[in-house]
Amino acid sequence: MTNRTFTMIKPDATAKGNTGAILKMINEAGFRIVAMKMTHLSSAKAGEFYAVHKERPFYGELVEFMSRGPITAAILEKENAVEEFRKLIGATNPAQAAEGTIRKLYAASIGENAVHGSDSDENAQIEGDFFFSKLEQF
Ligand code: PPS
Repeated sequence: MTNRTFTMIKPDATAKGNTGAILKMINEAGFRIVAMKMTHLSSAKAGEFYAVHKERPFYGELVEFMSRGPITAAILEKENAVEEFRKLIGATNPAQAAEGTIRKLYAASIGENAVHGSDSDENAQIEGDFFFSKLEQF
């Protein structure tokens, strides 16, 4: 079934100039970009996005990192998009990510791991709606 996922190219990847290379990998893996924008999250907005992780010990660090610089947010479409995209990006910790995945190539650590990918269809919808109005989702 064709469905959608949501991604962010995180501040570490933006700062290293890897946005274009990551978008090329996403494109070559067959994802259609449904919506895309570059933006800079305030710490309040980053905190809201990651509120589900509020109780986790790294929450403060994650919010500080995600509001440190610009990101690129996008909604992507493909068959089995959520699962296929998580395969393309690799494990959360780049040390455990498979060869050829985005995180293996571009992530430095579990915190600064280059990209986000939704973990379910439901969260993909919620996260896409966080950044894009209905009119911006084609
Ligand atoms: S996941 O994606 O839900 O399977 O991964 P999870 O381990 O639950 O991590 C959720 C997000 O928190 C980030 N993270 C961390 N940030 C800073 N320090 C540490 N130690 C750390 N561990 C996990 C991780 O990059 C996930 O971010 P997103 O944007 O969801 O990929």
